[in-house]
Amino acid sequence: MSRMNFSELTPEEVLMLAIDVEASNGTRLRTFAELFADYTPDVAKLFAEMADEEDEHKGQLEATYERRFGGVPQKVSEEDVPNVIEAFELDDGEQFVFNAMNLRRALQIVLAVEYQAESFYWDACSSTVDPEMRELYRQLAEFENGHMTWIERRLEGIGGWYKH
Ligand SMILES: [Fe+2]
Ligand SMILES: [Fe+2]
Repeated sequence: MSRMNFSELTPEEVLMLAIDVEASNGTRLRTFAELFADYTPDVAKLFAEMADEEDEHKGQLEATYERRFGGVPQKVSEEDVPNVIEAFELDDGEQFVFNAMNLRRALQIVLAVEYQAESFYWDACSSTVDPEMRELYRQLAEFENGHMTWIERRLEGIGGWYKH
């Protein structure tokens, strides 16, 4: 994710982007959970648990949006704020899971997006004046950092980032 200029975003836009980040990461994690369900069930379970947590974060953010701005948030168009979320495409799911190297690749991808989410929340936190919103973004940054730790442990369990 290229770093955004948060000073150009309204508090409402930052909150909408946060909802997008959670939706996007939740979808990605659920896709991985399904792909790895038979291949490495323990990792699939971890992905599914993380996806559930992203859904919870999304719900928390949506409730905050509704309370503060009223109504259901509209999706921020990518034209408005480019490069917020990197689209991730799976070319061939089956091929993907039958290669042992690709568990590492999946973990690397998840680690990268969790890092992006964490960075997003720290940037949101430091650009936000409102104390309640700052606290929410701070908590979510720490949560995503926790997700990174889980994934790093799994990567270490299969020999780390670089093992071939
Ligand atoms: Fe999250
Ligand atoms: Fe996360």
